[in-house]
This record gives sequence, C-alpha cells and structure tokens, in this order.
Amino acid sequence: MINNKVTILLVLMCFIIAVFCSDPDPVMDYCIAKSEDNKFSCKNSSTATVEDFTFSGIKLPGNFKDTGFSSMGVNSNVFPGLNTLGVSFVRADFDAGGVNVPHFHPRATEVAIVLEGKIYSGFVDTKNKIFAKVLEKGEVMVFPRGLVHFQMNVGDVPATIFGSFDSQNPGLMKIPNVVFGSEIKDELLEKAFGLNSKELSKLKKRFSPS
Ligand SMILES: *[C@@H]1O[C@H](CO)[C@@H](O)[C@H](O)[C@H]1NC(C)=O
Repeated sequence: MINNKVTILLVLMCFIIAVFCSDPDPVMDYCIAKSEDNKFSCKNSSTATVEDFTFSGIKLPGNFKDTGFSSMGVNSNVFPGLNTLGVSFVRADFDAGGVNVPHFHPRATEVAIVLEGKIYSGFVDTKNKIFAKVLEKGEVMVFPRGLVHFQMNVGDVPATIFGSFDSQNPGLMKIPNVVFGSEIKDELLEKAFGLNSKELSKLKKRFSPS
C-alpha cells in the first residue's frame, strides 16, 4: 500500500518536473503567436506564409558596445514563428578582445558554434569548477541550463558565434547587471563584495540600465 502511494507520488513529481523544467511539446504543427501579449492565440494557419518561418534579422553583426561585443537574441517575442516550438537562437559578434560577460539562461541549455574566429569559451558548474578552452572556427560548446558561462575573442580579428537554445524564451541574466544594475541596497553590495562606496558607485554607473 505504502509502496503504491510512494510510486504514485514519484510519478506525479516526475510529471511536474517534466512540465516545469522544459518548454512543453507542441500539440500542433505550429502556432505563430498572434501578438506578443497573448501566446495562447495562434495566427490562423490559413494565413501563414513562409515569411512566418524565416528570419532575416541576424544577417549582419550589430554595433559593438564598450565590451567589444554585440548580440541579437532571437526568441519567440522577436520571431513569432518560434512560438510553442521550444527552440530559439542568438547571433553574437566579438571585436578583437571583445567579451561576452558572465551570464546564464534560466530556462535553456545552449549549444554554440564558432562561425568565425577564436573564442575562449567556458562555464562554471555548481561546485565552482570551471570548464573553459579556446574554440576555433567550426567547434561547438554546450552550456548546461542555468550555469554561468562567458566568452572572449582571443584572436586578432572579429569573431562570430551562433547559439541555439532548447527554449523559445531562454531568458538572459548578465551577472554584472544583475548584481550592480538592479538597485540592490548599497550597504548589502558593499558588504558582499568588500567595496567602498566610491568603488560601488563606479560599478553601479557602469552596469545600470541607461
Ligand atoms: C481561418 O481562416 C479560414 C479562411 O478564412 C476560416 O474559414 C476559418 O474559420 C478560420 N479559422 C479560425 C479558427 O478562425
């Protein structure tokens, strides 16, 4: 009797974990989101065209920011044809020396391929162990869901990567911005990082949303 109950509980828990830990499987061919506000209503499929399933917004790199980096994350908000399909992608470009700051995606594992250049690339696991190396053109790295990862162009010329996610909306949390750009109380940050108020205000200025 007890065993039965335990089994039922375990099955239920597995089901709940499966439901909440990845995007649900689609139950129809596609569901092109009608609007960003309501993902549950799909565009009438009789009006779907090939344009709904193609995206031209990452043909060119964006403008480099002061870290020598630019990225265009393409999730289902940007590309409604991805809606319900459980995938999305990103193009990122690095100037020589450019850096993609440590960050993580709360809802997705990422597979990233180097299209051009040489990129020092890695992540840190929950034991604080680092896995990092220089990847060359054509090489691929996987960043497990939710783990902090980072990249830097260690070549002399611009570099490009293409990353894909197993979620239509992976989310992006950049560590410096999360910590210094989110209005966490100064006193807490000063204590947590051993900073004086001048050092802290410099970091806050740099990483606050402008
Ligand atoms: C989709 O469009 C077709 C053709 O205009 C129409 O017959 C059908 O009722 C529409 N379906 C829905 C769910 O609105």
